[in-house]
Amino acid sequence: MFKGKENNVQKDLDCFKAELSEADFKAFSEFIYTEYGIKMPPIKRIMLQGRLLKRIRELNMQSYTEYKDYFFSKEGQAKEIFNFLNVVTTNKTDFFREPVHFDFLQNQILPQYGETNRGLKVWSAGCSSGEELYTISIVLNEFKAKNPLFNFTILGSDISNRVLTTASKGVYGEHKVALIPLEMKKKYFLKSKDRDNPSVRVKPELQKNIALKYVNLMDNSFDVGDNFDVIFCRNVLIYFDRATQERVINKLCQYLKPGGYFFIGHSESLSGMNVPLKHIKPTIFRKE
Ligand SMILES: C[S@@+](CC[C@H](N)C(=O)[O-])C[C@H]1O[C@@H](n2cnc3c(N)ncnc32)[C@H](O)[C@@H]1O
Repeated sequence: MFKGKENNVQKDLDCFKAELSEADFKAFSEFIYTEYGIKMPPIKRIMLQGRLLKRIRELNMQSYTEYKDYFFSKEGQAKEIFNFLNVVTTNKTDFFREPVHFDFLQNQILPQYGETNRGLKVWSAGCSSGEELYTISIVLNEFKAKNPLFNFTILGSDISNRVLTTASKGVYGEHKVALIPLEMKKKYFLKSKDRDNPSVRVKPELQKNIALKYVNLMDNSFDVGDNFDVIFCRNVLIYFDRATQERVINKLCQYLKPGGYFFIGHSESLSGMNVPLKHIKPTIFRKE
Protein backbone atom coordinates (compact mmCIF):
# COMPACT_ATOMS: atom_id res chain seq x y z
CA MET A 1 0.00 0.00 0.00
CA PHE A 2 2.78 2.37 1.00
CA LYS A 3 4.59 1.50 -2.20
CA GLY A 4 1.50 2.39 -4.27
CA LYS A 5 1.37 5.83 -2.69
CA GLU A 6 5.06 6.29 -3.33
CA ASN A 7 4.51 5.37 -6.98
CA ASN A 8 1.75 7.99 -7.29
CA VAL A 9 3.97 10.70 -5.85
CA GLN A 10 6.71 9.70 -8.26
CA LYS A 11 4.23 9.83 -11.16
CA ASP A 12 3.13 13.32 -10.14
CA LEU A 13 6.71 14.48 -10.02
CA ASP A 14 7.45 12.90 -13.39
CA CYS A 15 4.41 14.63 -14.79
CA PHE A 16 5.59 17.94 -13.45
CA LYS A 17 8.91 17.48 -15.14
CA ALA A 18 7.41 16.27 -18.40
CA GLU A 19 6.96 18.74 -21.23
CA LEU A 20 4.55 18.87 -24.09
CA SER A 21 7.05 18.52 -26.93
CA GLU A 22 6.77 20.70 -30.01
CA ALA A 23 5.89 17.65 -32.10
CA ASP A 24 3.08 16.57 -29.74
CA PHE A 25 1.81 20.16 -29.53
CA LYS A 26 1.74 20.31 -33.34
CA ALA A 27 -0.36 17.13 -33.50
CA PHE A 28 -2.92 18.59 -31.06
CA SER A 29 -2.96 22.07 -32.59
CA GLU A 30 -3.44 20.73 -36.14
CA PHE A 31 -6.29 18.54 -34.91
CA ILE A 32 -8.11 21.32 -33.02
CA TYR A 33 -7.70 23.71 -35.95
CA THR A 34 -8.91 21.25 -38.60
CA GLU A 35 -11.83 19.81 -36.64
CA TYR A 36 -12.99 22.81 -34.55
CA GLY A 37 -11.52 25.88 -36.29
CA ILE A 38 -9.66 27.00 -33.16
CA LYS A 39 -6.20 28.30 -34.03
CA MET A 40 -3.47 27.36 -31.63
CA PRO A 41 -0.16 29.03 -32.56
CA PRO A 42 3.15 27.82 -31.01
CA ILE A 43 2.93 30.55 -28.34
CA LYS A 44 0.02 28.58 -26.81
CA ARG A 45 2.14 25.45 -26.19
CA ILE A 46 2.76 26.17 -22.50
CA MET A 47 -0.89 27.05 -21.98
CA LEU A 48 -1.99 23.74 -23.50
CA GLN A 49 0.64 21.91 -21.48
CA GLY A 50 -0.81 23.40 -18.29
CA ARG A 51 -4.42 22.70 -19.25
CA LEU A 52 -3.74 19.06 -20.16
CA LEU A 53 -1.77 18.29 -17.00
CA LYS A 54 -4.84 17.77 -14.78
CA ARG A 55 -6.37 15.42 -17.32
CA ILE A 56 -3.12 13.44 -17.64
CA ARG A 57 -3.05 13.04 -13.87
CA GLU A 58 -6.69 11.95 -13.78
CA LEU A 59 -5.85 9.27 -16.33
CA ASN A 60 -2.81 8.29 -14.28
CA MET A 61 -0.55 8.71 -17.29
CA GLN A 62 3.16 9.41 -17.17
CA SER A 63 3.75 11.76 -20.06
CA TYR A 64 2.16 13.99 -22.66
CA THR A 65 3.21 11.56 -25.38
CA GLU A 66 1.33 8.76 -23.63
CA TYR A 67 -1.75 11.01 -23.57
CA LYS A 68 -1.28 12.00 -27.22
CA ASP A 69 -0.98 8.34 -28.31
CA TYR A 70 -4.15 7.50 -26.36
CA PHE A 71 -5.99 10.57 -27.68
CA PHE A 72 -5.28 9.72 -31.32
CA SER A 73 -6.08 6.01 -30.87
CA LYS A 74 -9.52 4.74 -31.90
CA GLU A 75 -10.54 4.28 -28.27
CA GLY A 76 -9.19 7.69 -27.26
CA GLN A 77 -11.00 9.53 -30.06
CA ALA A 78 -14.29 8.04 -28.96
CA LYS A 79 -13.78 8.48 -25.21
CA GLU A 80 -11.46 11.42 -24.71
CA ILE A 81 -12.62 14.01 -27.21
CA PHE A 82 -15.16 15.67 -24.87
CA ASN A 83 -12.68 15.95 -22.01
CA PHE A 84 -10.20 17.42 -24.46
CA LEU A 85 -12.72 20.00 -25.71
CA ASN A 86 -13.56 20.96 -22.14
CA VAL A 87 -9.87 21.62 -21.57
CA VAL A 88 -8.97 23.45 -24.78
CA THR A 89 -11.95 25.80 -25.21
CA THR A 90 -11.99 29.26 -23.66
CA ASN A 91 -15.41 29.83 -22.15
CA LYS A 92 -15.33 33.30 -20.63
CA THR A 93 -18.81 34.84 -20.60
CA ASP A 94 -21.10 37.02 -18.47
CA PHE A 95 -24.69 38.09 -17.96
CA PHE A 96 -25.47 41.21 -20.04
CA ARG A 97 -22.01 41.09 -21.63
CA GLU A 98 -21.77 43.78 -24.34
CA PRO A 99 -25.16 45.27 -23.38
CA VAL A 100 -25.61 47.26 -26.63
CA HIS A 101 -26.86 44.05 -28.25
CA PHE A 102 -29.56 43.52 -25.65
CA ASP A 103 -30.68 47.17 -25.93
CA PHE A 104 -30.87 46.72 -29.71
CA LEU A 105 -32.86 43.50 -29.31
CA GLN A 106 -35.27 45.19 -26.92
CA ASN A 107 -35.68 48.52 -28.70
CA GLN A 108 -35.15 47.78 -32.40
CA ILE A 109 -36.05 44.15 -33.01
CA LEU A 110 -38.77 43.23 -30.53
CA PRO A 111 -41.21 46.08 -31.31
CA GLN A 112 -41.79 44.44 -34.74
CA TYR A 113 -43.11 41.36 -32.93
CA GLY A 114 -45.34 42.99 -30.31
CA GLU A 115 -48.64 43.02 -32.17
CA THR A 116 -48.40 39.56 -33.69
CA ASN A 117 -48.08 36.01 -32.48
CA ARG A 118 -45.23 35.48 -34.95
CA GLY A 119 -42.72 33.59 -32.80
CA LEU A 120 -39.14 34.82 -32.50
CA LYS A 121 -36.39 32.23 -32.92
CA VAL A 122 -32.99 33.07 -31.46
CA TRP A 123 -29.75 31.06 -31.64
CA SER A 124 -26.79 31.65 -29.38
CA ALA A 125 -24.02 29.81 -31.24
CA GLY A 126 -21.11 29.25 -28.83
CA CYS A 127 -23.27 29.99 -25.78
CA SER A 128 -20.71 28.75 -23.24
CA SER A 129 -22.17 28.25 -19.72
CA GLY A 130 -25.51 29.93 -20.45
CA GLU A 131 -25.18 33.52 -19.18
CA GLU A 132 -25.81 34.83 -22.72
CA LEU A 133 -28.85 32.57 -23.11
CA TYR A 134 -30.44 33.64 -19.85
CA THR A 135 -29.75 37.31 -20.60
CA ILE A 136 -31.63 36.89 -23.92
CA SER A 137 -34.36 35.04 -22.05
CA ILE A 138 -34.71 37.88 -19.49
CA VAL A 139 -35.07 40.46 -22.30
CA LEU A 140 -37.66 38.32 -24.10
CA ASN A 141 -39.59 37.50 -20.92
CA GLU A 142 -39.72 41.21 -20.03
CA PHE A 143 -41.15 41.93 -23.49
CA LYS A 144 -43.64 39.08 -23.22
CA ALA A 145 -44.94 40.44 -19.91
CA LYS A 146 -46.12 43.54 -21.82
CA ASN A 147 -47.05 41.69 -25.04
CA PRO A 148 -48.85 38.45 -24.10
CA LEU A 149 -49.24 37.33 -27.74
CA PHE A 150 -45.48 37.24 -28.18
CA ASN A 151 -43.71 33.90 -28.02
CA PHE A 152 -40.15 32.76 -28.59
CA THR A 153 -37.64 29.93 -28.52
CA ILE A 154 -33.90 30.11 -27.86
CA LEU A 155 -31.30 27.56 -28.92
CA GLY A 156 -27.95 27.49 -27.14
CA SER A 157 -25.12 25.47 -28.65
CA ASP A 158 -21.48 24.80 -27.90
CA ILE A 159 -18.81 22.10 -28.34
CA SER A 160 -17.93 21.82 -24.64
CA ASN A 161 -20.27 19.51 -22.75
CA ARG A 162 -19.00 20.92 -19.44
CA VAL A 163 -20.38 24.39 -20.24
CA LEU A 164 -23.58 22.94 -21.73
CA THR A 165 -24.15 21.07 -18.45
CA THR A 166 -23.67 24.30 -16.48
CA ALA A 167 -26.08 26.06 -18.85
CA SER A 168 -28.71 23.37 -18.36
CA LYS A 169 -28.42 23.56 -14.55
CA GLY A 170 -28.60 27.35 -14.55
CA VAL A 171 -26.74 27.65 -11.23
CA TYR A 172 -24.13 30.41 -10.89
CA GLY A 173 -21.94 31.92 -8.19
CA GLU A 174 -23.63 34.98 -6.70
CA HIS A 175 -20.81 37.22 -7.95
CA LYS A 176 -21.91 36.46 -11.54
CA VAL A 177 -25.19 38.34 -11.03
CA ALA A 178 -23.74 41.16 -8.92
CA LEU A 179 -24.32 43.79 -11.63
CA ILE A 180 -27.90 42.79 -12.45
CA PRO A 181 -30.38 45.27 -10.92
CA LEU A 182 -31.89 43.97 -7.67
CA GLU A 183 -35.50 43.99 -8.93
CA MET A 184 -34.55 41.89 -11.94
CA LYS A 185 -32.53 39.52 -9.78
CA LYS A 186 -35.49 38.96 -7.48
CA LYS A 187 -37.75 38.36 -10.44
CA TYR A 188 -35.60 35.83 -12.29
CA PHE A 189 -33.20 34.18 -9.81
CA LEU A 190 -33.53 32.11 -6.66
CA LYS A 191 -30.89 32.53 -3.97
CA SER A 192 -29.32 29.43 -2.43
CA LYS A 193 -29.40 29.04 1.35
CA ASP A 194 -25.81 27.83 1.43
CA ARG A 195 -23.90 30.71 3.04
CA ASP A 196 -20.48 29.12 2.46
CA ASN A 197 -21.09 28.85 -1.23
CA PRO A 198 -23.42 31.71 -2.23
CA SER A 199 -25.10 30.95 -5.52
CA VAL A 200 -28.23 31.66 -7.51
CA ARG A 201 -30.41 29.47 -9.72
CA VAL A 202 -32.36 30.82 -12.68
CA LYS A 203 -36.12 30.46 -12.21
CA PRO A 204 -37.87 27.85 -14.38
CA GLU A 205 -39.62 30.49 -16.51
CA LEU A 206 -36.23 31.63 -17.82
CA GLN A 207 -35.40 28.08 -18.87
CA LYS A 208 -38.80 27.22 -20.33
CA ASN A 209 -38.16 28.15 -23.96
CA ILE A 210 -34.50 27.20 -24.12
CA ALA A 211 -33.02 24.13 -25.85
CA LEU A 212 -29.35 23.18 -25.63
CA LYS A 213 -27.37 21.26 -28.18
CA TYR A 214 -23.86 20.23 -29.15
CA VAL A 215 -23.11 21.98 -32.46
CA ASN A 216 -19.64 22.24 -33.97
CA LEU A 217 -19.64 25.34 -36.17
CA MET A 218 -17.04 23.64 -38.38
CA ASP A 219 -19.51 20.92 -39.44
CA ASN A 220 -20.82 21.15 -43.00
CA SER A 221 -24.42 21.54 -41.89
CA PHE A 222 -26.25 22.06 -38.60
CA ASP A 223 -29.20 20.09 -37.28
CA VAL A 224 -30.96 23.07 -35.72
CA GLY A 225 -34.48 23.03 -37.20
CA ASP A 226 -36.15 26.02 -38.88
CA ASN A 227 -34.25 29.18 -39.64
CA PHE A 228 -33.68 31.88 -37.03
CA ASP A 229 -34.71 35.52 -36.69
CA VAL A 230 -31.61 36.39 -34.65
CA ILE A 231 -28.21 34.72 -34.32
CA PHE A 232 -25.75 35.67 -31.60
CA CYS A 233 -22.26 34.41 -32.47
CA ARG A 234 -20.19 36.50 -30.11
CA ASN A 235 -16.59 35.96 -29.04
CA VAL A 236 -16.43 32.59 -30.79
CA LEU A 237 -15.01 33.55 -34.20
CA ILE A 238 -12.18 35.38 -32.50
CA TYR A 239 -10.47 32.00 -32.04
CA PHE A 240 -10.70 31.22 -35.79
CA ASP A 241 -8.58 32.58 -38.65
CA ARG A 242 -10.14 34.99 -41.19
CA ALA A 243 -10.85 32.41 -43.91
CA THR A 244 -12.53 30.10 -41.39
CA GLN A 245 -14.53 32.99 -39.93
CA GLU A 246 -15.84 33.89 -43.40
CA ARG A 247 -16.78 30.27 -44.15
CA VAL A 248 -18.57 29.81 -40.79
CA ILE A 249 -20.48 33.10 -41.09
CA ASN A 250 -21.68 32.19 -44.60
CA LYS A 251 -22.85 28.85 -43.25
CA LEU A 252 -24.60 30.47 -40.26
CA CYS A 253 -26.34 32.88 -42.66
CA GLN A 254 -28.00 29.91 -44.35
CA TYR A 255 -29.84 29.41 -41.04
CA LEU A 256 -30.85 33.06 -40.73
CA LYS A 257 -34.14 34.31 -42.22
CA PRO A 258 -33.96 37.16 -44.76
CA GLY A 259 -34.09 40.35 -42.70
CA GLY A 260 -32.79 38.44 -39.64
CA TYR A 261 -30.15 39.93 -37.34
CA PHE A 262 -26.62 38.72 -36.65
CA PHE A 263 -24.52 39.82 -33.65
CA ILE A 264 -20.76 39.38 -33.27
CA GLY A 265 -18.47 40.25 -30.35
CA HIS A 266 -17.02 43.74 -29.96
CA SER A 267 -13.47 42.71 -30.78
CA GLU A 268 -14.60 40.89 -33.93
CA SER A 269 -15.07 42.36 -37.40
CA LEU A 270 -16.59 41.33 -40.72
CA SER A 271 -14.93 44.07 -42.73
CA GLY A 272 -13.77 42.92 -46.15
CA MET A 273 -15.62 39.61 -45.89
CA ASN A 274 -17.88 38.33 -48.61
CA VAL A 275 -20.98 37.57 -46.50
CA PRO A 276 -24.69 38.29 -47.16
CA LEU A 277 -24.96 40.70 -44.23
CA LYS A 278 -25.60 44.44 -44.19
CA HIS A 279 -23.84 46.51 -41.55
CA ILE A 280 -26.39 48.20 -39.25
CA LYS A 281 -24.21 49.34 -36.34
CA PRO A 282 -20.80 48.18 -35.15
CA THR A 283 -21.09 44.39 -34.48
CA ILE A 284 -24.78 44.34 -35.55
CA PHE A 285 -25.74 43.06 -39.02
CA ARG A 286 -28.87 42.20 -40.99
CA LYS A 287 -29.29 39.52 -43.63
CA GLU A 288 -30.05 41.03 -47.04
C1 LIG B 1 -15.55 32.93 -25.09
S1 LIG B 1 -16.96 31.91 -25.20
C2 LIG B 1 -18.19 33.10 -25.68
C3 LIG B 1 -19.50 32.89 -24.96
C4 LIG B 1 -20.59 33.90 -25.28
N1 LIG B 1 -20.99 33.80 -26.68
C5 LIG B 1 -20.17 35.29 -24.92
O1 LIG B 1 -19.88 36.09 -25.82
O2 LIG B 1 -20.12 35.60 -23.74
C6 LIG B 1 -16.65 31.04 -26.73
C7 LIG B 1 -17.38 29.71 -26.82
O3 LIG B 1 -17.28 29.23 -28.17
C8 LIG B 1 -17.20 27.82 -28.12
N2 LIG B 1 -16.61 27.31 -29.38
C9 LIG B 1 -15.31 27.34 -29.77
N3 LIG B 1 -15.16 26.71 -30.95
C10 LIG B 1 -16.39 26.29 -31.34
C11 LIG B 1 -16.88 25.57 -32.46
N4 LIG B 1 -16.08 25.12 -33.44
N5 LIG B 1 -18.20 25.32 -32.53
C12 LIG B 1 -19.03 25.74 -31.55
N6 LIG B 1 -18.64 26.42 -30.45
C13 LIG B 1 -17.32 26.69 -30.34
C14 LIG B 1 -16.32 27.54 -26.90
O4 LIG B 1 -16.50 26.24 -26.38
C15 LIG B 1 -16.78 28.65 -25.92
O5 LIG B 1 -17.71 28.18 -24.98
